Amino acid sequence: MALVPMRLLLDHAAENNYGLVALNVNNMEQIQSIMMAAEKTESPVIIQASRGARAYAQNNYLRHLIIAASELYPNIPVCMHLDHGDKPASCLDAIEAGFTSVMMDGSLTTDGQAADYDYNVKVTKEVVTAAHARGVSVEGEIGVLGSLEHCGGEKEDGHGLEGTVDHSKLLTDPDEAARFVADTGVDALAVAIGTSHGAYKFSTKPTGSVLSMDTIKNIHAKLPNTHLVMHGSSSVPQELQDIINKYGGKIKPTFGVPVEEIQLGIKHGVRKVNVDTDNRLAITGAIRKVFAETPEKFDPRDFLKPAREAMMKLCMERMTQFGQAGHAGKIKQITLADQAARYASAKKGACGTGCGCK
Ligand code: G3H
Ligand code: 13P
Ligand code: ZN
Repeated sequence: MALVPMRLLLDHAAENNYGLVALNVNNMEQIQSIMMAAEKTESPVIIQASRGARAYAQNNYLRHLIIAASELYPNIPVCMHLDHGDKPASCLDAIEAGFTSVMMDGSLTTDGQAADYDYNVKVTKEVVTAAHARGVSVEGEIGVLGSLEHCGGEKEDGHGLEGTVDHSKLLTDPDEAARFVADTGVDALAVAIGTSHGAYKFSTKPTGSVLSMDTIKNIHAKLPNTHLVMHGSSSVPQELQDIINKYGGKIKPTFGVPVEEIQLGIKHGVRKVNVDTDNRLAITGAIRKVFAETPEKFDPRDFLKPAREAMMKLCMERMTQFGQAGHAGKIKQITLADQAARYASAKKGACGTGCGCK
């Protein structure tokens, strides 16, 4: 089956009160892990590629691998999403390449500085107009990702505002979020609640002072029909840290976003949960184990297979914990052309894009 628009998956998740893990990929084995997990748990999937991933894999490799995945598993709805597009041109390029969903991250300027509201609306709306005409979904971001804690002085793995002192930007203002959705017509909204990318998010198990689930609740109260997105949502499991360190790695003590907090978010409108780091940890641990225990091996399959299994296991856990398991076959798959027709026939809302917003 052809790739499906993300809007289809998020609408189904909202109607049935579950969340979808959105999984970052850079290579074939990661895509295989996701599809194996999706098949075992009967889950719809969002596979996402960052600009870095697209550059690493020369775009076309990833694109064809994800298309191959959707062909090999026709019963699994697969969305191909651009993670953290930095400017309209990046999103348009991904749309041209066949991505069925894009994130226009206008919360930052292309220099990585916090952008002002008008800039964010301008670039996001430009992408929404172009994307919706082709049935492609758009995720926007309001507020800037970054740790409220600056855990251990570690620098964030990009796409955030780590290292700045302006904490006011690091929590999304619910009123501004409501204005942003009305002004842009985005299909999904990433919000800032104190999470950051990478392994070093919190130095102890996070409380409400550094991980603001109340912000999610307040935004959802104002925007009950908007699909919310949690970035930086790896849980950084202790057992994965232990495996890496046992086999010669050097992960410093750290905490991620507890799964139960994500589950709370899902009760309050979170439909997309971005996870990359946990899979990086699972893969690294599995490979280190093979290298340490059987140093005589040199066939890449000897370490890539366990790595693939480890990532599959993590993906299955999240698919089950977030509630998307069991839903793949319940979703009537549609094409981008079908979704474009839906946008076109939707009542024109305040944003003027035909997205159906009020
Ligand atoms: O947003 C962050 C994701 O983990 C992607 O990271 O830009 O290193 O591919 P990346
Ligand atoms: P993690 O680094 O917590 O996995 O977050 C990934 C992410 O938000 C991708 O956009
Ligand atoms: Zn992110």
